[in-house]
Amino acid sequence: MTTRTDPSAAPQQAGGRGPADFLWGVATSAYQIEGAAFEDGRTASIWDTFSRVPGAVFGGHNGDTACDHYHRMPEDVALIAGLGVDSYRFSLSWPRIQPGGRGPANARGLAFYDRLVDRLLDHGILPWVTLYHWDLPQELEDAGGWPARDTAHRFADYAEIAMGALGDRVHWWTTLNEPWCSAVLGYETGRHAPGRQDRADSLAAVHHLLLGHGLAAQRLRACAPAGAPEPPQVGITLNTTHAIPARPTEADRAAARRADGIGTRLYTDPLVLGRYPADVLEALAAEGLALPVRDGDLETIAQPLDFLGVNYYTSQYVSGVAEDGRAPDGRPVTRAVPQGHPVTAMDWEIVPDGLADHLVRLDRDYPGIPLYVTENGAAFDDADDADGAVRDDDRTAYLAEHIAAVARARAAGADVRGYFAWSLMDNFEWGYGYEKRFGIVHVDYRTQRRTVKQSGRWFAEHVRSARERSGPPAAGADGPDGTAES
Ligand code: FCB
Repeated sequence: MTTRTDPSAAPQQAGGRGPADFLWGVATSAYQIEGAAFEDGRTASIWDTFSRVPGAVFGGHNGDTACDHYHRMPEDVALIAGLGVDSYRFSLSWPRIQPGGRGPANARGLAFYDRLVDRLLDHGILPWVTLYHWDLPQELEDAGGWPARDTAHRFADYAEIAMGALGDRVHWWTTLNEPWCSAVLGYETGRHAPGRQDRADSLAAVHHLLLGHGLAAQRLRACAPAGAPEPPQVGITLNTTHAIPARPTEADRAAARRADGIGTRLYTDPLVLGRYPADVLEALAAEGLALPVRDGDLETIAQPLDFLGVNYYTSQYVSGVAEDGRAPDGRPVTRAVPQGHPVTAMDWEIVPDGLADHLVRLDRDYPGIPLYVTENGAAFDDADDADGAVRDDDRTAYLAEHIAAVARARAAGADVRGYFAWSLMDNFEWGYGYEKRFGIVHVDYRTQRRTVKQSGRWFAEHVRSARERSGPPAAGADGPDGTAES
């Protein structure tokens, strides 16, 4: 695959913004890389339990060892430094920091993040912390999990512990990663931990995740250490749905609006506007479902956002007409219809324009909130060369095309301030185990050897040249091979 768009049309091209206000980073999450699952006082998370359920995860894989990052952290920070990025987005393991999800902090667990943050800062890398990337302490799931309101309060207590330990050095705090996945994959489809399948529980989880976000955001701001040089920057990361009508018909437009409602506005409206979208509430009521909202919850949820993190992998083309072409009777049809675009190894269609359009739309509908692409990347079936190198033209092109889409969004006026590649390295891809590789660094799981892939080298070079340029890039600057392809 060749690069269709000149990736050197970097974000600084737009609006006179210089590279200084654009953050380049790489991202990971705790359960996917750390391993050391039961060391230094860590207890089980729902993923430790779920991955042991026969058939739940490809190949029976689990995160017991993962990339062994817990023991190889210094080497991994050196790797990040070698890529030359500004920031590293990682998540904290709740059951490592507060085993069981309630009660006192675990000093040994916290010490790991203390060392990680210090080492990042020693290398001049900005630590960007996510409090929750899906690894709920199993004890809290046993007490009801996210469908139980109490979990939101437990989350705020955990946020306070994390802020108390790291807030003197960490300024960027993401409360939740992709609450849609926690709620829908975890409690409705059962494809993710804890593997429950109950639509009412899933909706309760949506509300309590958002409530947990609001309570944690309040707590983070209230508990920031007095000596911290700056107030904390607090936000959330969503995997909002970019829904596109499959055809320009009224039925498909209505279906796209429904997909947008349940996949985007159900989250962004309460977070930013302090209300759930009326059309979504009506559709749920028609199914006999409701969110367990109590007085004051929406005010709590709608805490000021210093940023909105956007994770983008693909777009969804939707139709409002059933597969057999019949007009829907009764319940409206909202059906995904792939358009035949090239796909990644996840079977996700590659739609860079969707990223540009989605960023512009979020900026338009929720103005005044800086946007960061906190995840973007692709799994492909990598093949190693004889010398162990991975020549991943497909992933390189994917990154280049999506970075160019970010530049277009900025040129159209969207306030996008950063881009994090998912992922720093191959890791435990949830239900797909180690089978799907998203890394820009290859991990040999037998030896734990890390090898920067071609995409990683390209990304590093792109970041370096984007930083150096102050004006629009020279045409033909830096394609994946050091040559411009178009
Ligand atoms: C996102 C997750 C991340 C990773 C990528 C591929 O939904 O946040 O952990 O699994 O997808």
